[in-house]
Amino acid sequence: MRSFMEKIPTKETLAKLITVTVLNKAGNKIDEFQMRGGTNLWVFIRKRGLPIGSACSGVGVCGACHLKVTEITPQSISIQNEFEKETLIKNQKPTDERLACLCRISGDIIIQADYW
Ligand code: FES
Repeated sequence: MRSFMEKIPTKETLAKLITVTVLNKAGNKIDEFQMRGGTNLWVFIRKRGLPIGSACSGVGVCGACHLKVTEITPQSISIQNEFEKETLIKNQKPTDERLACLCRISGDIIIQADYW
């Protein structure tokens, strides 16, 4: 069980198709895919077959799934809570990055990882 409250996606969010653009470390586009609004980003990246850190199996404590996320539309990603911020700090990751396993997506985004 997760130690934070996730906001339940609205019916409108669930009905949306979200475009996720994937950049490698150098900033080159390596993939683009669509996912249903409200989906957990880490789960979808794994389903897509992209490698992503997962030492804690997506419970938000290892920091391995950290990504840089750019919102194409405002409020495209769930708000970073204290738990996520603490995990980033404890694992010496930039606090302006996000943990994919703790993010739900509701609008188009660009993601970039230093290991792609
Ligand atoms: S998989 Fe461990 S923090 Fe996301």
